Amino acid sequence: FNVDKIRNFCIIAHIDHGKSTLADRLLEITGAIAKTEKNKQVLDKLQVERERGITVKAQTASLFYSHQGQQYLLNLIDTPGHVDFSYEVSRSISACQGVLLIVDANQGIQAQTVANFYLAFEAQLAIIPVINKIDLRNADPERVESQIEKVFDIPREECIRISAKLGTNVEKVLQAVVDRIPPPVACPSDPFKALVFDSSFDHYRGVVTNVALFGGQVKKGDRIVSAYLGKTYEGELGLFRPDEHPTQKLYAGQVGYIIAGMKDVKEAQIGDTLHLQERPVEALPGFKPAKAMVFAGMYPMDQSEYPGLRSAIERLTLNDSSVTVQRDSSLALGAGWRLGFLGLLHMEVFNQRLEQEYNASVIVTAPTVPYKAILSSAKLIKEHGGKEITIVNPAQFPDKAAVSEYLEPVVLGTILAPDSYTGKIMSMCLSRRAIQKNIVYIDDQRVMMKYLFPLNEIVVDFYDQLKSLSSGYASFDYENAGYQTAELIKMDILLNGKPVEELATIVQRDRAYSTGKSMCERLKDAIPRQMFEIAIQAAIGSKIIARETIKAYRNNVLAKCYGGDITRKMKLLKKQAEGKKKMRLIGRVEVPKDAFINVLKRL
Ligand code: GTP
Repeated sequence: FNVDKIRNFCIIAHIDHGKSTLADRLLEITGAIAKTEKNKQVLDKLQVERERGITVKAQTASLFYSHQGQQYLLNLIDTPGHVDFSYEVSRSISACQGVLLIVDANQGIQAQTVANFYLAFEAQLAIIPVINKIDLRNADPERVESQIEKVFDIPREECIRISAKLGTNVEKVLQAVVDRIPPPVACPSDPFKALVFDSSFDHYRGVVTNVALFGGQVKKGDRIVSAYLGKTYEGELGLFRPDEHPTQKLYAGQVGYIIAGMKDVKEAQIGDTLHLQERPVEALPGFKPAKAMVFAGMYPMDQSEYPGLRSAIERLTLNDSSVTVQRDSSLALGAGWRLGFLGLLHMEVFNQRLEQEYNASVIVTAPTVPYKAILSSAKLIKEHGGKEITIVNPAQFPDKAAVSEYLEPVVLGTILAPDSYTGKIMSMCLSRRAIQKNIVYIDDQRVMMKYLFPLNEIVVDFYDQLKSLSSGYASFDYENAGYQTAELIKMDILLNGKPVEELATIVQRDRAYSTGKSMCERLKDAIPRQMFEIAIQAAIGSKIIARETIKAYRNNVLAKCYGGDITRKMKLLKKQAEGKKKMRLIGRVEVPKDAFINVLKRL
């Protein structure tokens, strides 16, 4: 294939604006998949994606398209819309020359539309605005076009109005891809040079790397070197159409996969450059590492499951390189890890993928943001090799006596909403210690607000609360904005007098009482009654600041059986045993596993 007949593009949009549906239509029109009811959101391959109806992984598909008597090769990369997965978007963008920016004709521009637009704009990609869902009764494409003109400075004439659901004008989108997106700058006569922009682990064949060829060509059996490790491999090649389709060669400008027989998942570095053994090249710049925003401990339910969980986490992080992993251990939970995620949804999805794809059962501790402390104790400074430390684990919270200042991470948040909700949103932001930076109208009814938020105020449940107070109309996105001074303390939770390590948290000093109280109340709701009384307490140092009590209860499931039916008795016992598997025993108290994440939510 000639390079100027290749187009590499991705679809970016706010969540639910129709990326995956448009991708389905593009696959159908180009004959990559059959047009049947069954083929819905074919690029959402993971079980979590199908269950939650959201895309969490970017996916690649190569399409063949004829236009004015010419054959084109279009490489499409479908990307997730939720803020927690924007790292996937930025990586996909690095393999593309253009994007389709989808905006819902009814909802208009939303927070992630803005965030994703800037990712593409800063990367200097061609941007094709596509207004989707024009079939909806409340669709107002005129108005969305005005928003696009006002917010992005793109002339309204460039917008393409479509219905991805019905297929209306989807052909025009393909034409625009060919006409408006430039071919990749990749010279076939250069030495082979490929960027590894994603990878996954296949149980049978090992590591599959997704690559974009920036130059030259590679054929099956060539000796390939990874610039990062300097190791040599021999590869099997192919294209995603959208399933893997083996080929003999890959050429400059193409996007495909290489299965190079890498045995260890650590060998496949995202952002690495591959080249031929006999023709070394200068490595591509790679990617900025993702910045973890939320940390939590992960431990096996039982220490005997440690090796299994370790390999599951290694394999899953290969497929999701934005997760950071450090080994950790705790007195109560044994050996485990401290993982860093881009957000809470990201963390929940990772957890769910561990359970569904690897059948692993884990305990996750209460999440925390990365705080910092400036040390004043000479001894500690020496121990840490510097004044400033980052605290990602409440267990390692340094005492006030050894610290001159604590710092908390802050983010710049963007909220888009109809103006009738402005008042409610402002007061919610105030209650979360936010500082307003800016507010503008993007049309006569919608406002865009910018706030500086302490990260810990938004990380757990801000998004849910924003959605519910705006009846789903407000959207939210954020970016890092550094650190600010904070008054922090460590709060412990005790069950029957025993501190529960998984529930220790770092809190804002003047929030300690309210947080302690609400955590105790939530635990009271979450922990089932047991045969003995349970005291739930929140404490700062040795001082108890809140308490709830769960009364004793005889949990006798068999009482319902009236003696008789033995199979029914067995069934009930089995059910109870299954329920218990999801419990963690602390002292004698059984705590449901999901309580550790849920206790911090304020809703
Ligand atoms: P994420 O992957 O979660 O970010 O969402 P997405 O942008 O891929 O959206 P998706 O394609 O899953 O579509 C979201 C919802 O909108 C689905 O229920 C679709 O059926 C619906 N939808 C998509 N396109 C259209 C359209 O043109 N018209 C109408 N009426 N509904 C549409």
